[in-house]
Amino acid sequence: MKEKETIFEKACKCKNSGRPPVWMMRQAGRYLPEYRKVRESHSFLTMIKTPEIATEITLQPIKRFGMDAAILFSDILVTAEALGSNLEYVEKVGPVIHNPTQTLKDIKQLDKANIEEKLSYVTNAIKMLNKELESFGIPLIGFAGAPFTVASYMVEGRSSSDIQTIKKLIGSEPETFHALLEILTETTITYLNEQIKAGVKALQLFDTWACYLSWQDFETFSLKYIEKIVNKLDNPNNIPVIIYTRNSHAYAPRFQTLPIQGLSLDWQCDLSEMRQVIRPDIALQGNLDPYLLLGNKDIIEKRVNEILRNMKNEQGFIFNLGHGLVPQINPDHVKFVVDLVKENY
Ligand code: CP3
Repeated sequence: MKEKETIFEKACKCKNSGRPPVWMMRQAGRYLPEYRKVRESHSFLTMIKTPEIATEITLQPIKRFGMDAAILFSDILVTAEALGSNLEYVEKVGPVIHNPTQTLKDIKQLDKANIEEKLSYVTNAIKMLNKELESFGIPLIGFAGAPFTVASYMVEGRSSSDIQTIKKLIGSEPETFHALLEILTETTITYLNEQIKAGVKALQLFDTWACYLSWQDFETFSLKYIEKIVNKLDNPNNIPVIIYTRNSHAYAPRFQTLPIQGLSLDWQCDLSEMRQVIRPDIALQGNLDPYLLLGNKDIIEKRVNEILRNMKNEQGFIFNLGHGLVPQINPDHVKFVVDLVKENY
């Protein structure tokens, strides 16, 4: 029996005539008490590597708020770890890679073999989730970090506000950096193809830190590799591919040249203005400022309604945030937003 197409899938095809679907980046995470409860007794890496736990965490926001899509609970740095990065998530610091990849010698030491096997915990979680999600009638979004962003962690060793080590590499040994990006591109293609085979219904590629690149370097070190990935996916059912970067409105005119189905936009742009410049077959996702959810409901309501009004009758619109939920956000405000999108349309 052919499964019924969900409103999320319809919106990705720009063929959704009812209310827009809603989901939120980082919808599973530390702002939820039920997440923190599980986290008390497990490390983050153990959680994402245990399919039963990854399944439970993925479903937490769905059960509580009823979003229109679930996103796999995992992280973008699993590909780096599979290649040999010694990855640790440090409290109040974030991800740390204890053996950064900065020279050709470091790159040669990366272990490109058996990516499918090393990341099989992810495909096992996807299969488990797909069974669970049947009763919710919503799709599962898979994802990966884009090569540039994963490389930025591998080179810098942690989140960096100016990526100086990479800038130096780009300005002195661009071929070394390209060698790393090539390996990450091949790894990401293998990884995403495994997710497609396991049954995800859409893919989101996160290139969060591409926003630090100049426009020339963005083409060379980010866009070119994303293009290679989307062109080489083994995607028999044409599941949609959505691209996310910070400051995405600045790069949207370039991203729209790719064979993608969706663009996730930041909160610095008016989506209805972006609609005028982006190819009409690309769905737009976004773009509430996530930090607004720290404030009061009256302001939240006003901002949500402005976005809904501006995108009214757009068949390719997915309501989301401009970036992820942060731990300080009150879960009641997340519920408030989901309900507003579902009811006030
Ligand atoms: O969105 C979801 O609910 C799905 C799961 C998901 C996580 N990370 C869970 C996570 C996704 C899609 C990501 C993507 C991710 N991870 C990105 C790209 C999107 C973005 O936010 O820009 C990046 C850059 C990372 C790298 C990463 N992982 C950072 C910077 C951090 C620390 C920040 C923080 O909030 O602590 C992580 C850890 C992480 N990834 C957590 C979660 C729920 C927190 C882990 C914990 O419990 O300590």
